[in-house]
Amino acid sequence: MSMDAVRLVEVGARDGLQNEALTLPVEVRVALIERLVAAGLRTLEAGAFVPPRWVPQMADSDRVLRHLGQRPGVTYTTLVPNLQGLDAALQAGCREVAVFAAASEAFSQKNINCSIAESLQRFQPVMAKALEQGVAVRGYVSCVLGCPFTGDVPVADVVRVVRELHAMGCYEISLGDTIGRGTPGKARTLIQACASEVPITALAGHFHDTYGMAVANVQAALEAGVRVFDSSVSGLGGCPYSPGATGNVATEELVYLLEGQGLATGVDLAALLEAGAFIDAALGKPSASRVANALRRA
Ligand code: HMG
Ligand code: MG
Repeated sequence: MSMDAVRLVEVGARDGLQNEALTLPVEVRVALIERLVAAGLRTLEAGAFVPPRWVPQMADSDRVLRHLGQRPGVTYTTLVPNLQGLDAALQAGCREVAVFAAASEAFSQKNINCSIAESLQRFQPVMAKALEQGVAVRGYVSCVLGCPFTGDVPVADVVRVVRELHAMGCYEISLGDTIGRGTPGKARTLIQACASEVPITALAGHFHDTYGMAVANVQAALEAGVRVFDSSVSGLGGCPYSPGATGNVATEELVYLLEGQGLATGVDLAALLEAGAFIDAALGKPSASRVANALRRA
């Protein structure tokens, strides 16, 4: 990818919907994803293979994947916490999955019911099997700029997990500001520290917007050299195991921000607004995207 393009990873149908009070039927989730593809998004999270007891909103992710099928040039990814999740993802035809760890012990326990070290150990056989089947694996690190339970998280703790996921074979590591507490200076310092251990092309930014800092943090990461960002249509999202955290930075905001400085995203903003209107109506709530709201008023 050239330095004047940015790859957006659309997480609305997973990170977005996992935190909504309403559990949407498979058909609506599929229709959302298809609208996002029509808008030009090419990497999209489509679900999570986790026990419905933990995240009921992601139940039936296998059916979502089967409905979507394969589409040339489009990657549907899903979250898998363990081998059982990977096996379900493979059966549903997934060609890319993501494992998820945290930089904070307290969050790791709450979110995936084990320590950081245990989680990394658990990912080893997941990685081995996925790579053997030619399935790409992305890695997430949560709480990179703060933990909902313990506050500040040392940069060194993040770097350690990033290095391990990369060494294990994750082609890309998404740095998650799960609670959106970060500020641009801290984001820049973090990216620089991670980029001294793994290639910067293997890093992605995943900023939640709880404090309204997500766009500023994206810009800081961009200036530090990051060219992959996670975002969610309409600013949907949060993490059920991160109390109080709101949605990801809205995809509409990122397209506006990036195209506004000459960086191609491949996304058609008008079509994206339609996808946003569709999911807002399905959830019965207004958009959290200020760009979407401004353009609709214009
Ligand atoms: P556990 O309860 O410790 O699991 O959960 P277990 O291994 O003891 O198994 C308990 C039961 O679950 C067993 O069934 C297993 O078969 C079943 P039983 O014998 O009782 O009938 N089970 C499964 N079922 C379906 N799919 C599976 C699976 N695994 C076990 N994959 C576990 C441990 C990791 C499974 C659980 O804690 C979990 O799934 N946590 C995930 C929570 C989650 O999805 N959080 C949100 C995503 S992370 C996020 O949003 C952050 C991110 O956006 C980045 C950021 O913003 O920071 C990525
Ligand atoms: Mg998230």
